[in-house]
Amino acid sequence: MSKSSIANPIRQVPRGSSLPQHVAVIMDGNGRWATQRRLPRIAGHSKGVKRVRELVSACGDKGIKYLTLFAFSSENWRRPKLEVKSLIELFVSALDEELKKLHENNIKFRVIGHIDRFGKDAVRRIKNAEALTRDNERLVLTIAANYGGRWDIAQACAELARRAQEGKIEADAITPEMIEASLSMHDAPDPDLFIRTGGEQRVSNFLLWQLAYTELYFAPILWPDFDRSQFDLALDSYTARQRRFGLTGEQIEATRQA
Ligand code: IPE
Ligand code: IPE
Ligand code: MG
Repeated sequence: MSKSSIANPIRQVPRGSSLPQHVAVIMDGNGRWATQRRLPRIAGHSKGVKRVRELVSACGDKGIKYLTLFAFSSENWRRPKLEVKSLIELFVSALDEELKKLHENNIKFRVIGHIDRFGKDAVRRIKNAEALTRDNERLVLTIAANYGGRWDIAQACAELARRAQEGKIEADAITPEMIEASLSMHDAPDPDLFIRTGGEQRVSNFLLWQLAYTELYFAPILWPDFDRSQFDLALDSYTARQRRFGLTGEQIEATRQA
């Protein structure tokens, strides 16, 4: 399904495979998981990294092409300094540990978000990992780090405004497709399935633009407990749904039979 399908809802109806092509996840509940065990919150984040590994390999096995994970939101800077520092360290060390395996498994790694704030060293490691894996094709693993959906839309608007100022585009001719092309996820299809663990039923400034027609699934499970069987439940829920994109159920049935 290409990005240009935005103007034609019939073309957005997924065909063939009933599995999602793109899964986006808010991995929530690490802190509560640790607190329930009288452990420091960072212990929950460490356990969470193990679940990330599991989910990445499950997606690879199932042939899911895009996995996008919310690791750190632009609002998470408001947390205690020590937790923020530990989260960044955990992210960078997990990347160092996993990079070889990601590459061997033909996984393309990339990060979306305003990463400069993580410091020069972290940025260098992230860029190295992206460069090493850029031609891999089995699965695109995107980590949203210091990411916010509103930030993303604002930076897309700023880019279009610059181009309008330079006389390259007409302000009145700006279309949703042009905004989309300037967003961080411009080269991926919109998520088919959104999963949030932890029990909260909100989007928390994740992929605001791209979630317009995504199927939402809220798991009453803390992220460190989200294993393969929990992922299968989410996939079962997804495959049982009819996606309509504004059409009627009958129209969808007709396109399936055509
Ligand atoms: C999600 O778990 C991970 C991050 C936000 C980095 P939390 O740390 O939000 O866990 P809870 O919601 O406090 O349990
Ligand atoms: C969302 O979780 C961000 C990540 C999982 C990285 P939060 O725990 O920060 O979300 P809120 O604050 O409960 O909405
Ligand atoms: Mg949380």
